[in-house]
Amino acid sequence: MKSISFAIVVFCALTIAQQTRSSEILVIFPTTAQSHYRVVRPLIHSLLDRGHKVLAITNFPDAVERANLSHIDISGLKPHSKFKTSNNGIIKSLKRVIGNANTYATILNHPTVAKLLQSRQKFDLVIAEFFTPTPIFAPIATVVDAPIVGFCPMITFPWINEVMGMETTMSYMPSLLSNSTDRMSFFQRIYNTVKSLFIEIAFNWMNTPMVRQINKNHYGIQTESVIKTMANLSMIMTNNYHSMFLPFPKLPGIVEVGGIHVVDEKPVPQDLNDFINGAEHGVVLFSLGSVVSEASLAADKLNNILDAFSKLKQRVIMKFDVEKYKIQLPVNVKVVKWFPQRDLLALPKVLLFISHAGMMSTIETIHCGKPMVAIPIFGDQMFNTNLLVEKQVAVAIEYKHLERLLGHLFVVLHFQLFVPVKTPISL
Ligand SMILES: *[C@@H]1O[C@H](CO)[C@@H](O)[C@H](O)[C@H]1NC(C)=O
Ligand SMILES: *[C@@H]1O[C@H](CO)[C@@H](O)[C@H](O)[C@H]1NC(C)=O
Ligand SMILES: *[C@@H]1O[C@H](CO)[C@@H](O)[C@H](O)[C@H]1NC(C)=O
Repeated sequence: MKSISFAIVVFCALTIAQQTRSSEILVIFPTTAQSHYRVVRPLIHSLLDRGHKVLAITNFPDAVERANLSHIDISGLKPHSKFKTSNNGIIKSLKRVIGNANTYATILNHPTVAKLLQSRQKFDLVIAEFFTPTPIFAPIATVVDAPIVGFCPMITFPWINEVMGMETTMSYMPSLLSNSTDRMSFFQRIYNTVKSLFIEIAFNWMNTPMVRQINKNHYGIQTESVIKTMANLSMIMTNNYHSMFLPFPKLPGIVEVGGIHVVDEKPVPQDLNDFINGAEHGVVLFSLGSVVSEASLAADKLNNILDAFSKLKQRVIMKFDVEKYKIQLPVNVKVVKWFPQRDLLALPKVLLFISHAGMMSTIETIHCGKPMVAIPIFGDQMFNTNLLVEKQVAVAIEYKHLERLLGHLFVVLHFQLFVPVKTPISL
């Protein structure tokens, strides 16, 4: 009897402790890719819902204030340029990767960030974007005396396994920057291996002197390599989900959270709603996401796109944030600077999404069960596109062949070669 009452007392004490324990969480999302921050924002808000306090170092502070959420706004620092629609070859991408360490070190010198680090304020947890600049931010965990968890906005990253202590086997684990899926021919395996080695050399070797210097200057620590700088990461959340994307062998420290950013849909703004309701034959969406520079879209490519749209009986909503062109818009096209993509994709009248196949767009499209015409531009977009094409929920079109867009649109809209199944993947 005594032991039972003791157990009850302990249980009650633990329950109360659980309810009143509020943790201080430091979130570091240094990149200027808005879509990356959009993935972690719902997680931040659900941590707040549970009574925790969050301080976020970000380029995209929430517009609406919320209790227990504060920001260090780093958007005033020299931002990364957007990606152009052409010339995103491997050498250019690598240059960007290598140059990253010094670009991002400016964040450590930001007065508010520097003050925070000097204050020796303690946190209970650090959540850091797992991306190219992660190595120079990982040692912050020791400064604030907290465990650190990575959050990878992509399906995977070439060095993700190595950080967690496992080798990547290039013969069957495709690199994010290769354009193969996990079913590779012999030559694709060779290509994948060479490309993976290239990235390894750039990221882990050529970057080393710079990262070591930054670690020494800012944290007073000696680090052997770039990968070892991240050795204190306890866990990495990835935007993968094995049934949707790739079934990789992986260690328990890598946790798939693909779909975590997909929250319930909300009503769309009145003007878009009216435009959609007036569309007798349905609606097509067009967006190149937030990281591709729309201004770099060549005039002839834009003409190809608008010309194709003008021949559709569907209405088109186009996310396009450029006034550079004096565009003569077809009557069935509405251009907006931004649209609530996830909410629009959920509408039954939306039939098709023309997209650069960025990670979040890919997940949202699968979640809503819509077909995609993919125009991959750089980074993981080729990789995402190939996965979608393999699953027969997308057709791909190269940027340089946008004159063929109309044909692709017809294939998807009129022949309905495939009908994707709505696959809710939010966790
Ligand atoms: C803010 O955090 C405190 C605990 O430090 C908690 O008592 C309070 O309810 C939180 N406020 C909100 C609005 O969540
Ligand atoms: C990892 O954690 C240990 C113990 O807190 C610390 O001494 C070391 O400097 C950390 N390493 C890095 C690279 O942050
Ligand atoms: C990969 O890229 C090469 C060169 O751009 C292309 O020839 C090949 O068809 C692509 N492979 C896949 C699977 O898309």
